[in-house]
Amino acid sequence: MYKVAIIVASDSCAAGERQDESGIAIRETVENAGYQVVSYQILPDDRQKLAAAMAEICDRRQAELILTTGGTGFSPRDVTPEATMDIAERAVPGIPEAMRQLSLSITPRAMLSRGTAALRKGALIVNLPGSPKAVKECLAFILPAVEHGLDILTGASRNCAR
Ligand code: MTE
Repeated sequence: MYKVAIIVASDSCAAGERQDESGIAIRETVENAGYQVVSYQILPDDRQKLAAAMAEICDRRQAELILTTGGTGFSPRDVTPEATMDIAERAVPGIPEAMRQLSLSITPRAMLSRGTAALRKGALIVNLPGSPKAVKECLAFILPAVEHGLDILTGASRNCAR
């Protein structure tokens, strides 16, 4: 069972002005898929705070998978992809490419999500878009492949043929 850390990037949720729904959607989806949620943080759209939170989870080996939601669009405060790349050791372009490919079949606005994915130490970080609908759509599509990626990242599997 892999451990998941959820980070909600949202100024309004962090200020208590709005209830988070997307982080809850992540929690429900990954728990149904057999993952263990070990942390759930709501942070403002602050590049340094987001980067520090992600780096700490990776460096303390608190989770194998970090799922962020929000902050991937065009608002001046949307900086989740930049925060992720600030602390990335290796980029994982295929996951955001796959999410955008899937999402473009649902809405042309999917092209506006700038989400990235990256590896740092023993963890994979994936930026999901901000809406609960987008979170569910993207996770349902990527989770089976992500699990195989985590098997390889953690050394649980060395064989892609299986
Ligand atoms: N992806 C999916 N699968 N479903 C969606 O409804 N919404 C899009 C896009 N990706 C959407 C989606 C919209 S409207 C935007 S603006 C971008 O994600 C960025 O969202 P964010 O800034 O909330 O992260």
